Amino acid sequence: MKKIIITLIVLFTINSISVKADEGMWLVHLIGEKTYADMTKRGLKLTKEQLYSMNSNSLKDAIVLFGGGCTAEVVSKEGLLFTNHHCGYSNIAASSTVDHNYLKDGFWAKSKQEEIACPGLSVQFLVKIEDVTEAVLTKIKDVKPEDITTQLTTVLNEMSGKTSDGTGYETRVSSFFKGNQFLKFTYQRYTDVRLVGAPPESIGKFGGDTDNWEWPRHTGDFSIFRVYMAADGKPSDFKAENVPYKPKQFLQVSIKGVNDGDYAMIYGYPGGTNRYETSHGVKLKIDIENPNLVTLRDARLKAMMTEMVKDPAVKIQLASSYAGIANYWKFFDGETKQLIKHNVLAQKEKEEKQFETWAKGKSEYDNLFSGIKASYDSWRPYAKGRVYLNEGIMGSPLLAASSSLKALDDALSAKEIKPEAVTKATAAVKASFERFNKDENTASDKSILATVLNMYYHDVDANQQPIEFYTKLKTSYGDLEKDETYKKFAKDVFEKSILLNAARFTAFVENPDTAILHKDLAYSTALAFINNYNNNYSKFYKNFISTNYAYGNKYLKGVLEMKKGQALYPDANQTMRVSFGNVKSYSPRDAVNYKEICTLSGVMEKYTPGDYEFDAPAKLIELIAAKDFGQYVDKKTNDIVVTFITTNDITGGNSGSPVLNAKGELIGLAFDGNYEALSHKIAFDGELNRTICLDVRYLLFVVDKLGGAKNIVDELILAK
Ligand code: ARG
Repeated sequence: MKKIIITLIVLFTINSISVKADEGMWLVHLIGEKTYADMTKRGLKLTKEQLYSMNSNSLKDAIVLFGGGCTAEVVSKEGLLFTNHHCGYSNIAASSTVDHNYLKDGFWAKSKQEEIACPGLSVQFLVKIEDVTEAVLTKIKDVKPEDITTQLTTVLNEMSGKTSDGTGYETRVSSFFKGNQFLKFTYQRYTDVRLVGAPPESIGKFGGDTDNWEWPRHTGDFSIFRVYMAADGKPSDFKAENVPYKPKQFLQVSIKGVNDGDYAMIYGYPGGTNRYETSHGVKLKIDIENPNLVTLRDARLKAMMTEMVKDPAVKIQLASSYAGIANYWKFFDGETKQLIKHNVLAQKEKEEKQFETWAKGKSEYDNLFSGIKASYDSWRPYAKGRVYLNEGIMGSPLLAASSSLKALDDALSAKEIKPEAVTKATAAVKASFERFNKDENTASDKSILATVLNMYYHDVDANQQPIEFYTKLKTSYGDLEKDETYKKFAKDVFEKSILLNAARFTAFVENPDTAILHKDLAYSTALAFINNYNNNYSKFYKNFISTNYAYGNKYLKGVLEMKKGQALYPDANQTMRVSFGNVKSYSPRDAVNYKEICTLSGVMEKYTPGDYEFDAPAKLIELIAAKDFGQYVDKKTNDIVVTFITTNDITGGNSGSPVLNAKGELIGLAFDGNYEALSHKIAFDGELNRTICLDVRYLLFVVDKLGGAKNIVDELILAK
């Protein structure tokens, strides 16, 4: 331990922005000799070709992008997938009713016939990766600086999409090192994915939001799916006659257990980091963006929870949306605290000074940071209003859905009305309201609307408000200082809007009419705030993000030059990455040591019968009392190991990722990060950062002993 600390200190003093121990989300196809040597030194027993190969089967073929933003892994020759409970959550909720409540009671398919189709769910396998930097740079070389962000998006979208070569492949081009490199990823997407198993929420989400982002942790965060294909091997939407997917590669599952210090490798699709964020960006986040987002989410969550606890049907309806909002409500609150605690601002300022020292005499970097500062200074006065629009006003599901009507309004109000534009906008409105109607709970939405209108009026700078809207509100509904005023207005919106009346909504989309639209209380409210922003502030925002893009691009160009010869990894951007580290205990603060594992004894310590977050299934309590652990028992503790922690560098999107041992066998599923290192998107902490993983033996124990689904265990290849 001492030795590790000494080497770390040496590393820091040489260059504080050097990659620290275990930092790095490496692009799988670009693992260099140096990084591979690090991996083998740490314990890896696989060849580079076994990690990633373009021509033969490799580990990457067992890893999928699950749904819109998680990772899953193939664990059997019949396309069985493991991922997190919180990744399958919306599908488990959508499959549930009050009478067949799989969120509450869990679900186990005892045969393939019992598996449940999940409309809308897909998984994507990575086929290949190509460097397209030259092509992209050529296309954007004459773009005006103020148009760069919009034009770049257009160019990347044009280069992405379904291929027309009959393979059905999809491609996406992603930007790396802030626009200094572009890579094209080709994927095969499968759209018949079925639910196979899920534990009750009292296991899969044990500890709820209280324990979320925290270690020690006792959550059994897993769910099980299966991917299907047409008989000819091609992807196909759900069809009864589809057959289980035959993978090129699947993972073996180790029940040998983990020890402190063991090698751990994580493959997956981390969503986003910003490790080269500047001090100015950190300051904006700490002072304005994060705290306001947290305040607004807090208000929305309270409104939702009030209704969820009253009625199990509402709980099922709102559960997934609530969990998503709550997850990043706690994240951003913790991120602010850790950014301040670790003094990331000063850390960034120091890095920027070092860069300036290096850049001295290189004229292209002159005034880089003063330019960045000026850009932030000019946007700062408007940043709060933008958060209040996106997280407040648009936090009302009704207003968010209503905002989709703006494009239709514009199409209908055009000087020369284009029928195709009207048809397209109408279709988008229909789709948006179809989604909205599925999950709309008017009681909580009404309360959210009243609250956010009130908060916006009181918190946002008076001269940045939609004045006409609030003046009218005052005239028609009364004193803007009184909560009652907003409540009365919200009540009227929900009673009178045609958007909430199925018959009137259908009549409207069949024959869209701007007069009706402008009279509608929901739409006119949304429009007042959208227009206020679009007409007065969006130009500042556009200017801010395009100058930031140009500066960031230049900064990274310099960093790449300055650090030539060093192994560098690009920021996460939902492309496949691998990270490596060790199972490792840690000390979060003075006098406290955290062990590297949590066990079922800890579940019993936290167990609170009837509690919303800490209840546990009766069957689990019985199994624990009887010590009926079977082959999944941990010999050292004579208990079941529920979770363990590793030093790996991951972030949101890695959820569900396989945690592999030195031989590439599955030992766990990554599902969270620890509170003490929640600044990790901006700055990786080499001492405190931990990845929280479900021990796969707990998964197997729950499936087998609690779920009685031996059929699932029998499908796996266990390494004992
Ligand atoms: N923090 C986890 C992640 O972002 C999600 C955990 C979900 N559980 C919960 N209690 N909300 O990957």
